Amino acid sequence: MDWISFWDGAHAIYVSDRHKSLHYARIAADIARFVPSPGARVLDYGCGEALGADALAASCGHLTVCDAAPGVREKLRQRFSGRANPGVLSPDEVAALPDGHFDLIVANSLLQYLDRPTLDGLLVLWRRLLAPGGRLLLADIIPPNVSAVQDAAALLSFAAKDGFLPAAVVGLVRTALSPYRKLRGELGLSMYREDAFLALLREAGFAAERTRPNVGHNQNRMAFLARVA
Ligand SMILES: C[S@@+](CC[C@H](N)C(=O)[O-])C[C@H]1O[C@@H](n2cnc3c(N)ncnc32)[C@H](O)[C@@H]1O
Repeated sequence: MDWISFWDGAHAIYVSDRHKSLHYARIAADIARFVPSPGARVLDYGCGEALGADALAASCGHLTVCDAAPGVREKLRQRFSGRANPGVLSPDEVAALPDGHFDLIVANSLLQYLDRPTLDGLLVLWRRLLAPGGRLLLADIIPPNVSAVQDAAALLSFAAKDGFLPAAVVGLVRTALSPYRKLRGELGLSMYREDAFLALLREAGFAAERTRPNVGHNQNRMAFLARVA
């Protein structure tokens, strides 16, 4: 199994429906802060279930959501059928779009699941797809010093504030025994030091800086805002 198949299948990463809807509402609100204008064209790459897509679409001119997992995309297509905004595209369909198509490209909680050649290819694609002055937001990036225990603590604190603590405790035990844990052991997650990640973006032709806070609840992780240099 690879990470895309994992996300395509039934998984229990969100500890409850409440956790999932709060998570997506929070990231949509956080991403909306980076929408440069009401008419902006926005791409959410590796969007997952995108439960906040309606709110994000309402905050910009047009939203495109894209995920590599076919089953995830099919559900999105059903949910948004008959609507132009948001649009749902596969990675191949995004790769076929013309230069400069987007004012903001976002990848949240995606890069840990990508090997380096895949990331390098996506940076080339995203650079080409950004309109002049457009920005790339890469968020929820895991630094090497952050452990699964710190991730668990961040989730428990989010859960305590937002009223799903018992479900979070049960969910963490379930995750510890789940295929996610096994796959994480086998495939690992891609992690980046802040300075190394900035250098990587520079080599890919971006001028970038770290932006705080991170998108979402986990402030042990990092967000970066980049534009074509
Ligand atoms: C942790 S989920 C993140 C979902 C959402 N962005 C969020 O922040 O909650 C990672 C998503 O990235 C997708 N994904 C993994 N590799 C991908 C790739 N190479 N291209 C596009 N999507 C990918 C997975 O299918 C999964 O839905």
